[in-house]
Amino acid sequence: MMYKVLFLLIEFVLCIEGANILGIFTTTSASHNIIHMSIVDALVNKGHNLTVVTVLPLKDKNPKYHHVYIPPPKDVKKSIDESMIQMANTKGFDNFKVFISSIKEMTNMQYNLMFTEEFQNVIHGPTKFDLLLFGYAVNDFQMAIAQQLKIPVVISWVNVPNSMVNFFVGNPVIVGTEGTGFGQRMKSFIAHGVMKLVNIIGHYKLAQYYEEYKEIMNLQDLQSYQELQKNISIVIGNSHFSDGVIRANVPAYVEVGGIQIKPKPAALDNDLKEFLDNSSTQGAIFFSLGSNVKVSSLDPKFVKVIYNVLSKVKQNVVWKWEDPSNFPGNSKNIFYRNWLPQDDILAHKNVKLFVTHGGKGSIVESQYHGVPMVALPVFGDQIGNANQMVDEGYGLNLDYQTMSEDDFRNSIEEVLNNSTYTDNVQQFSKVYRDRPISSRDTAVYWIEYVIRHRGASHLQSPLVHTNMFVQYSLDVVGFLFIMLYLFVKMIKISLRFVKSRFLKIKQD
Ligand SMILES: *[C@@H]1O[C@H](CO)[C@@H](O)[C@H](O)[C@H]1NC(C)=O
Ligand SMILES: *[C@@H]1O[C@H](CO)[C@@H](O)[C@H](O)[C@H]1NC(C)=O
Ligand SMILES: *[C@@H]1O[C@H](CO)[C@@H](O)[C@H](O)[C@H]1NC(C)=O
Ligand SMILES: *[C@@H]1O[C@H](CO)[C@@H](O)[C@H](O)[C@H]1NC(C)=O
Ligand SMILES: *[C@@H]1O[C@H](CO)[C@@H](O)[C@H](O)[C@H]1NC(C)=O
Repeated sequence: MMYKVLFLLIEFVLCIEGANILGIFTTTSASHNIIHMSIVDALVNKGHNLTVVTVLPLKDKNPKYHHVYIPPPKDVKKSIDESMIQMANTKGFDNFKVFISSIKEMTNMQYNLMFTEEFQNVIHGPTKFDLLLFGYAVNDFQMAIAQQLKIPVVISWVNVPNSMVNFFVGNPVIVGTEGTGFGQRMKSFIAHGVMKLVNIIGHYKLAQYYEEYKEIMNLQDLQSYQELQKNISIVIGNSHFSDGVIRANVPAYVEVGGIQIKPKPAALDNDLKEFLDNSSTQGAIFFSLGSNVKVSSLDPKFVKVIYNVLSKVKQNVVWKWEDPSNFPGNSKNIFYRNWLPQDDILAHKNVKLFVTHGGKGSIVESQYHGVPMVALPVFGDQIGNANQMVDEGYGLNLDYQTMSEDDFRNSIEEVLNNSTYTDNVQQFSKVYRDRPISSRDTAVYWIEYVIRHRGASHLQSPLVHTNMFVQYSLDVVGFLFIMLYLFVKMIKISLRFVKSRFLKIKQD
């Protein structure tokens, strides 16, 4: 209540009229868009005028924002989709190779998009934008347009604060927060070092894109790439202290974990609602490997294992399956659909288990609704997310490329039979929902804050302008070591001197 009153007061005093906000979300991951678009939705509801650029179609039938849809060229789209399929069907180094080449491809796509007429029309149109809401996806060079338009940047980030975004706001990395044991700290230290190195190499490439854009568009007076990266007002991250390790976040790192989860679930369509309502005695399992991986394009031998198990469990199953011309089988307990409102399904009381690929958004939605999980991670951060979920006791983790039918069935039964997983995740759900201000209001507040103050340089940590040596005071440590060395050396020399003098006196 106090907070509400305070909020209204602040709004009244520092009233800002509907601002023109430009959202650039050129990711090829629909799940990233779900998160960015929930910030857009919150802003639109506060009366702001949003213009949103995406490369994927959006689901809204009557959008309350202006949508500039710039699909990638057909061959690029096809190639990116094929990489996803390859990644889902390979392991180890082959998987890693495809992962790297697909990142290259997506980065290229996001770069080429900047030269399209539609994109340039947005920048050079009559609308005077007040802020860039920037969906981060290894696309730093696109922030050139904030420079062109001379507007502040707010980054929207879909994961926990990590080395991909920490440096933008000087968020400190303290390896001890990930576990204080010597072995764990050694692991974290090395992992952060490797990520740092990957970042340095990656940004070397990204800087080249930026410089090239400046040159081609004749924008020589824009800031350097390094300055560009130090010009971020805030990062809005889709994490919350309760769902990860407790970190030392700077004020410019604003956590809005679970922002994609609707305060009240939307109504399910009739078929789906009836199917789930009908599952009250036996319960229902929700199976989805997310938006990037089409289950229908997995190697048929993996699909067979999954189908053979799911068709024989006593629960009903809602299965996200993308190819309506070719179902894995027509067991009566399975309901197929090529697109499913995940958040609303997980909110249904009869859903007892979520079989997920372990995307950050999916895990968080399951945690919010208190549904235990069996994770079948595919690539990227999903493996780490799934491991963390298992460590926290919310479910189990399997490799779908090697699991047998027995492995899969046992894991499903174990999570359903043993109430520990459900109890843990429902306990978490209570903690996760307990917040002074909702994620949406938090995001809106800080974005309006940046608009009101025309950027938030006063919020910036001095660490943004330093390097690793300074952040860890390695120079100070080095200096002290040298001083100590010299001091010891001096004492030794003096002692030797005194000793030789003393001996001499004695001899005399
Ligand atoms: C909102 O933004 C669009 C551009 O995307 C612009 O055409 C329109 O005039 C803006 N509306 C207001 C009220 O500024
Ligand atoms: C739900 O159960 C009723 C009664 O058993 C049945 O007639 C109906 O077909 C079921 N609906 C679905 C979608 O399974
Ligand atoms: C789970 O419980 C069912 C009966 O309720 C039983 O048939 C099954 O073997 C159990 N599975 C495991 C893995 O404990
Ligand atoms: C249930 O799972 C927990 C966590 O894995 C385990 O410690 C416990 O022994 C299990 N209980 C039974 C009855 O299997
Ligand atoms: C970004 O750069 C502009 C000058 O180009 C400066 O006025 C502004 O304060 C900077 N913003 C941040 C967050 O550093």
